[in-house]
Amino acid sequence: MTFTLDFIILLCYNTQNIYDMMPLKIENVTKKFTTPANKEFIAVNNVSLEIEPGKIYGLLGPNGAGKSTIINMISGLLLPTSGTIEVLGHNVAKETEITKQIIGIVPQEIVMEMAFTVEEVLYYFSGMYGVPKNERASRIKSILKDLDLEDKLHERARTLSGGMKRRLMVAKALLHKPKLLILDEPTAGVDVSLRQKIWSLVRRLNQEGTTILFTTHYLEEAEQLCESITLINHGQVIKNGKLKDIQQEFSKNTIHFELFDRNVNHLPGVTEIGVEYEFPITNLSDDMIKLTDHYRGNIKGIRSEAASLEQIFLKLTQP
Ligand SMILES: Nc1ncnc2c1ncn2[C@@H]1O[C@H](COP(=O)(O)OP(=O)(O)OP(=O)(O)O)[C@@H](O)[C@H]1O
Ligand SMILES: [Mg+2]
Repeated sequence: MTFTLDFIILLCYNTQNIYDMMPLKIENVTKKFTTPANKEFIAVNNVSLEIEPGKIYGLLGPNGAGKSTIINMISGLLLPTSGTIEVLGHNVAKETEITKQIIGIVPQEIVMEMAFTVEEVLYYFSGMYGVPKNERASRIKSILKDLDLEDKLHERARTLSGGMKRRLMVAKALLHKPKLLILDEPTAGVDVSLRQKIWSLVRRLNQEGTTILFTTHYLEEAEQLCESITLINHGQVIKNGKLKDIQQEFSKNTIHFELFDRNVNHLPGVTEIGVEYEFPITNLSDDMIKLTDHYRGNIKGIRSEAASLEQIFLKLTQP
């Protein structure tokens, strides 16, 4: 069999398209609610957002910013007033059934089939998500093991503690190995060690190829996990991008360093602060070279002051 060059180029182009397809593309989405007083309230205001495959994204913002409203529109629970949402190229409003199979969603509110046992709940959902019958038992077992819920298999959902119910919600969302996993405050009310467990599970799923979008108010956890963040306030995107770039943008423009021998000539602009010295920078890499060229082996330690996500969050969202 022979292939023409055109055919091979077309094949490569199409293959690349499949793998490069955006797991999530939100375009100019607005959501308006009508309040009981018959007034219009804009919860989400012209939001656009693209999520690249295989990454971990944080959707962050204060209470009432519009995060859950966005997530509920991605899951198809709410319809946007205007704008479109696509999941791996499928329009959520028009192809809801297909997108449900691709996404795993852990909603903020605990929605639970209280009268059923953990096993019954997970069997029901694995059937609904099309998990093959012969794989269901082992899939359920391994997810419950990951979430430390193995011993609750035969307990009724209603008898689980709050944190356990939330973990059962996470388990439900993972049954069908979704390509895009969206978690709306998955660790709210979960104790410290189990929070770590949930995050290490999220990390592992991401390493196995799942794209993750999550919300949390634990900003130090977001800082450890996210490659990129979208910060929203009053329904609008106020910052979007790689966490490192955003931190760089908000960092103080100084380098701090310590010296072995303090009795030396200093570069212009260097000031002494306790045991450290501070050097103002305009361009991080150029100024770092200038500094290391001048002090060479006399440098004991060096650091640039990265802004924490909490500092950035407060700066951007406080009135
Ligand atoms: N069904 C609804 N009807 C009217 N207003 C609503 C409705 N759902 C949400 N809102 C309003 O939209 C705004 C955004 O709410 P949303 O739940 O999206 O915030 P959030 O960012 O998830 O906040 P939190 O961090 O507290 O979970 C809020 O002011 C909320 O009161
Ligand atoms: Mg919310």
